[in-house]
Amino acid sequence: MKERINNHNGKLWWGLGVGVGVVAGAHFLRRWVAERRLPPLFKARASAGVALITGASSGIGATYAEYLAQAGYDLILVARRRERLEALAESLRTRTGVMVEVLPADLGFPEDVGRVAARIESLPALDFLINNAGYGRSREFAASAVNEELHMAHVHVDASLRLTRAALPGMLARGRGAVVNVASVMAFYPLPGGATYTATKAALVGFTRALHQELQGTGVRVQALCPGLTRTEFHQAANLSITQAPGIAWLSTDQVVAHSLRDLAADAVISVPGLGYAALVGVSGVFPPVLFDGIGTAYQALRRVKPASAAGGAFDGFSRRRYESLGQVTGELRAIFQRRAELRKAMRLLDPAFRERLMLTVTQVNGCRYCAQAHARMALEGGLAQEEIEALLSGVTAACPADELTALLYAQHWAESGGAPSAAARATLLECYGEERTAAIEMALRMIQVGNLSGNTFDYLLYRLSGGRWGK
Ligand SMILES: NC(=O)c1ccc[n+]([C@@H]2O[C@H](COP(=O)([O-])OP(=O)(O)OC[C@H]3O[C@@H](n4cnc5c(N)ncnc54)[C@H](OP(=O)(O)O)[C@@H]3O)[C@@H](O)[C@H]2O)c1
Repeated sequence: MKERINNHNGKLWWGLGVGVGVVAGAHFLRRWVAERRLPPLFKARASAGVALITGASSGIGATYAEYLAQAGYDLILVARRRERLEALAESLRTRTGVMVEVLPADLGFPEDVGRVAARIESLPALDFLINNAGYGRSREFAASAVNEELHMAHVHVDASLRLTRAALPGMLARGRGAVVNVASVMAFYPLPGGATYTATKAALVGFTRALHQELQGTGVRVQALCPGLTRTEFHQAANLSITQAPGIAWLSTDQVVAHSLRDLAADAVISVPGLGYAALVGVSGVFPPVLFDGIGTAYQALRRVKPASAAGGAFDGFSRRRYESLGQVTGELRAIFQRRAELRKAMRLLDPAFRERLMLTVTQVNGCRYCAQAHARMALEGGLAQEEIEALLSGVTAACPADELTALLYAQHWAESGGAPSAAARATLLECYGEERTAAIEMALRMIQVGNLSGNTFDYLLYRLSGGRWGK
């Protein structure tokens, strides 16, 4: 029985691995081909045509406006905030010389959608339609006001369908044009609190895929753009605490729009910017329903935990020093790797017990629980007494050998200053230990600092993912 379960798990992981590999391979190949074969529609030229963008007053929509104006398209910008649209229009006119019209409308209301549709039908030609307007809310469906849920459905679905219907006859008659419907990765990952959002974005994906089949060979392209977390005003407007997600999860609007345009050139009907998100969407089709339920339950549990930030607006309950970005970690590791010969020499120069006292001293300041455990064990093996280890982990160096005290005090100061000691402290160290041993001591301090900060960063991720329950 156990063997069958293992076999089954093995197959599932193998299947997922192949899925991710295939998605990544297809993604790179498609981009490579797309970048080499941009059709005329997407190449900058004197008068590229006309593009209408909904939700152009900020975020992804404003970035589409920027890209298409740079490519020579005259624009019609739609959203509710007239002043934001006018400011963007003025800036684009001045910088790019294209014509920009502002058309304020609330796409949650049929009369406003009707006005925009009528404007499309009155144009001699529309080359690009970007159905981007949208917003999110985190609320449980059963407890929400039904009119609010329907308003979202009108903005996301009804408006997109109606505007697409208004745009297609002209595009088909001219044998060219493109429609982008901005959906979301949430179309593939339903989550509690987002029932209507998920449903409306999934509807856009289904609509676009069917339309893509209907439009084969007509010269008109359609795309469902499915971004993951993107830095815009979206999350703040929706009051979503997801703004606390780690930096690596976020896309920029430039990444999203450039990806969409490249995929449009390759006639890809589903566009998912970011390799990680593309893999997630790729494997979502093979997930058994029970896995979605598990993800949903975990997410629901996290939503219900009051984040540690509730009072201060930030996860400020985690106070240990940590890395702020993946770039910092890789930069430090690269620097250590490049100086590995120096490091080996430094480690040989320092007596193992002295080295462990330095490690424990820095660890005490930075408070990394993983390094404290590992170096307590190494210190025991290196001949330190249990009491001395406990004293060092409480910040007490008095019982240490007298000739090491200057270095240990320096280690404390070095860690407290985040690796930027004062010139006076360094001069004392140099005077006491000379050039070579000072360099070796500093190398040891730097190495343990990397260990401490990496451990703390791991804890910080736990802390954030658990809404403040673990990792502290
Ligand atoms: N940011 C993300 O992480 C993310 C991820 C996946 C999908 N998306 C999708 O991307 C699209 C653009 O969002 P964004 O991230 O760029 O957020 P954003 O900066 O908040 O922009 C949303 C745009 O939609 C407009 N809008 C909202 N409600 C409207 C209404 N009733 N009528 C007309 N316009 C309306 C807003 O303009 P006004 O307020 O001036 O009306 C604004 O221009 C949305 O469809 C969203 O669902 C975003």
